[in-house]
Amino acid sequence: MRMLAMSDLQLKGKRILIREDLNVPIKNGKITSDARIRATLPTIQFALKAGASVMLMSHLGRPEEGHYEAQFSLAPVAERLSTLLEQDVPLIQSWINGFAMEAHPIVLLENVRFLTGEKENSSDLAQKMARLCDIFVMDAFATSHRTEASTCGIIDYAPTSCAGPLLINEVEALTKIMNHPKRPVVAIVGGSKVSTKLNLLETLVQQVDSLMVGGGIANTFIAAEGYTVGKSLYEPDLIDEAERLMVTAKKRGAEIIYPTDVIVAERLSEDSESSARLISQVDDGEKIYDIGPDTIKHWVSVIKKAKTILWNGPVGAFEFEQFSKGTRAIAKAVADSNGFSIAGGGDTLAAIEIYDVANKIDYISTGGGAFLSFLEGKQLPAIAALEKFAAKQEKVT
Ligand code: 3PG
Repeated sequence: MRMLAMSDLQLKGKRILIREDLNVPIKNGKITSDARIRATLPTIQFALKAGASVMLMSHLGRPEEGHYEAQFSLAPVAERLSTLLEQDVPLIQSWINGFAMEAHPIVLLENVRFLTGEKENSSDLAQKMARLCDIFVMDAFATSHRTEASTCGIIDYAPTSCAGPLLINEVEALTKIMNHPKRPVVAIVGGSKVSTKLNLLETLVQQVDSLMVGGGIANTFIAAEGYTVGKSLYEPDLIDEAERLMVTAKKRGAEIIYPTDVIVAERLSEDSESSARLISQVDDGEKIYDIGPDTIKHWVSVIKKAKTILWNGPVGAFEFEQFSKGTRAIAKAVADSNGFSIAGGGDTLAAIEIYDVANKIDYISTGGGAFLSFLEGKQLPAIAALEKFAAKQEKVT
């Protein structure tokens, strides 16, 4: 990886525009998790301390371009940033054609996705953004899989474009786990569908020693082994893929571990009655919503022996108490493990917060889609653009 690093540049007196991913969950105007905001603080504090004039830029949600919609305003984020940084971070509503920083060393620019051309990476828009700054800092690892004006286009036009510390840390931590992991390597992949994580499973099956599959994904593997999954969500057209992945793992001396017992119910609701079943005993009318107690015991013991652990996706419907034991046990086992642990993905981050294990996991990625793309071995467009910029600079000097 060859990118210019913000920490290597002279920032004093410079106008720096930092693209962060401040796309946080907001309910009724209140931020429900500020993990992504807190992750940006070291970058921001570094720049302020170095004497730069800081403009922060981010998207929030997926508004229709060209329109302001209050529900997608970054106002709650500006407020939270002001609290966390203990200084005023004003929100600038209208900024694309230039604005005055006045006496403020730091400002937050309103949602970049209100601007027409952001999503399609318009070069006009990217050039306007670039004119605002002396240095553009791409720090939004979680949006680095998007080819948009504020993540990619601007890199070509800014006087200097570099990577921020958060992005660099993410890339280094993920590279370490993918390229030089200590063995045994264990991955836990949950979530609802094999189809959305097929590429990830394909990559992991070539690299890990044990791959545990939970959530709806496990149901397709259970069905591939010839068991009935009742009315559970599963993907019949991916049964062949599931079988193929299991064969691939076996050929390498690795294993795909699916649950041997599960928690079932007739429906997903707060008051639905749940029961534990061996996978050979699931009734036609039942749905699988969590891994069972034997599976928990087994998986926890596998995680305990691992030297490297990667966790993406809850293994059950953990938002309901009666289906949360599996995800809670995995969260605790990953946190208690002596191996190097890394976790990422939106639902995984929510589980980590609920079970309060964040400070015991070695690296928590801020990325959802970007985290998966990186692990799948895909090139992230913003990182490619930063590398291209650095290569151009090298030629010139
Ligand atoms: C995310 O939440 O994964 C990032 O902020 C990217 O958001 P997007 O999927 O709306 O581009």
